[in-house]
Amino acid sequence: MTAATYQPEDGIKGQICFDQVSFAYEKDYLVLDDVSFSCEAGKVVALLGSTGSGKTSLVNLLPRFYDVTSGQILLDGVNLNEYSREFLRSQIGIVEQEPFLFSCSIQDNITYGVHREVSQEEIEEAAREAAIHEVILGFKNGYDTLVGERGVTLSGGQKQRLAIARTLLINPRILILDDSTSSVDMETEVQIRAALDSLMTNRTTFIIAHRIQSIMNADLILVFDKGKIVQTGEHEALLNQDGIYKDIYDIQARIDSALQEEIDRVDTI
Ligand SMILES: Nc1ncnc2c1ncn2[C@@H]1O[C@H](COP(=O)(O)OP(=O)(O)O)[C@@H](O)[C@H]1O
Ligand SMILES: [Mg+2]
Repeated sequence: MTAATYQPEDGIKGQICFDQVSFAYEKDYLVLDDVSFSCEAGKVVALLGSTGSGKTSLVNLLPRFYDVTSGQILLDGVNLNEYSREFLRSQIGIVEQEPFLFSCSIQDNITYGVHREVSQEEIEEAAREAAIHEVILGFKNGYDTLVGERGVTLSGGQKQRLAIARTLLINPRILILDDSTSSVDMETEVQIRAALDSLMTNRTTFIIAHRIQSIMNADLILVFDKGKIVQTGEHEALLNQDGIYKDIYDIQARIDSALQEEIDRVDTI
């Protein structure tokens, strides 16, 4: 087999189509089973489902960390297997739950993987948009502050906002957000969600989240169970049918209102 080399000159738009995709890490055990959906460029696809239902495996097919076992994925109408892995990865930004930071300055961490010259203004603009600029200015050495073993320790939410600033500078057409708000406290979640909203604008986005609140505005919601799509649609439509989505929504709404009652009770003591 010859290596895939396709690289459209004008870059990609980001239209994605999964056509009867199945995937197995090991023979005979399908982690994704006959998955089909499509999404226009710039839209948001949300993935919901219990742990092990195949969400991360699905998004990992996009940068071709793995290739499909059967079926096909089309990017702008071209089979993903025709694109070189290197090119695909340059077009896809991934923000993980706990992004990895290097033991170097904040500045170098923000510009890591940005393969072009960026001005100081651009870096600060991205940091502002990611709601991390003020935090950075709060350190004695500002953008030159070292992170990691010999420097400051950043919280999970701060690391994530740093990764968001970096991804803003990389400016990829496709974005993957895997559980990007689940490990942070509520106040940080609000900040991160605002930063993510700005990052998601005009990019095809795949978002994996456990909280319905984080995905209810998605253009397409895919509900997974054991590697299969069991429900698909927009929030309102899914709420109006019996199924996993409505069950999860009801449980989270109950937890939220119990929490609110508790907060109100404590407030009045
Ligand atoms: N690298 C891997 N090698 C083998 N099996 C894996 C690997 N990663 C995930 N799996 C298995 O694939 C299934 C789906 O996992 P995953 O895609 O991580 O689900 P989710 O992200 O929905 O929690 C699980 O049974 C998991 O154990
Ligand atoms: Mg996962």
